[in-house]
Amino acid sequence: MTTDFQAWSHENVQRVESVLQRVLPGTDIAPARLHEAMRYAVLGGGKRARPLLAFAAGELAGADPGRVEIGAAAVELIHAYSLVHDDLPCMDDDVLRRGKPTCHVEYDEATALLVGDALQSLAFQLLGDYRLADDARVQLEMVKLLAAAAGSRGMAGGQQIDLESTGKTLTVPELEFMHIHKTGALIRAAALIGARCGSLGERELSQVDHFAKLIGLAFQVVDDVLDAESPTATLGKTAGKDAMNNKPTYVSAMGASRAREFAQQLRERALGALKAFGARALRLQQLADFIVLRKF
Ligand code: IPE
Ligand code: IPE
Ligand code: MG
Ligand code: MG
Ligand code: MG
Repeated sequence: MTTDFQAWSHENVQRVESVLQRVLPGTDIAPARLHEAMRYAVLGGGKRARPLLAFAAGELAGADPGRVEIGAAAVELIHAYSLVHDDLPCMDDDVLRRGKPTCHVEYDEATALLVGDALQSLAFQLLGDYRLADDARVQLEMVKLLAAAAGSRGMAGGQQIDLESTGKTLTVPELEFMHIHKTGALIRAAALIGARCGSLGERELSQVDHFAKLIGLAFQVVDDVLDAESPTATLGKTAGKDAMNNKPTYVSAMGASRAREFAQQLRERALGALKAFGARALRLQQLADFIVLRKF
């Protein structure tokens, strides 16, 4: 096993990307334009932070990476779908994503809508097609986890709150509620699905869950800071877009430097949730650092 985080990440990014390559329908299959657009939205870019969380939690739980990679790919498909829809003119109206024109700019709006629909279905198909746990009830639990995380009480609900909040000022508790839904829910699902591929007791699972909840919030706080502070070339998406769109963010609520500090506090608390695991949680600890220190 590699001890170096970069080598570990690289290896696992390759792992999940090879699953994604394989499960996304080829561009020779009809309807070719939809399949081409799906592949455009998923492949060639992205940090793959959610798959990495799944692999790290899977490692902690002693899971077979050959199982975790399927759960990791399913979560990444939902994430990619959420980005395609998030960028649509009726939502954030963005033209740049992962350093390339957004899906609706490269193709068209209707195709981008269908890309999201089809990626979401494909995610659940993976959880049906492959065995991820010996006990079928555990696998069903994963399906329910992902469905809840993507739905109206998870990511989609958070996106609704985001849209309704545009142009308004939110209190910090309201911001937190929005962020743990639109971004935190899927991050939490990634860690839990990875962990469920292995064997952890209920108490340990709830420690992983608590870690992921805190780091999921930190992820979006950092996203808010980067939107305000990082250049477009580094971000791979249009810088300053939140202010332009009048979005309430942690930066608009407390300023970038306090938002950064808050992300650091969340990281400390997240690491605290892993204490009982000791060195077994190394990868999750490293991912917490990566999430808070990243530049894009
Ligand atoms: C961007 O997610 C949208 C959020 C939920 C904050 P990422 O920062 O993970 O985007 P990619 O996948 O690396 O492009
Ligand atoms: C994205 O939040 C949340 C989801 C896509 C679910 P943002 O709108 O801040 O994400 P970016 O900054 O466009 O990546
Ligand atoms: Mg958005
Ligand atoms: Mg956006
Ligand atoms: Mg953002």
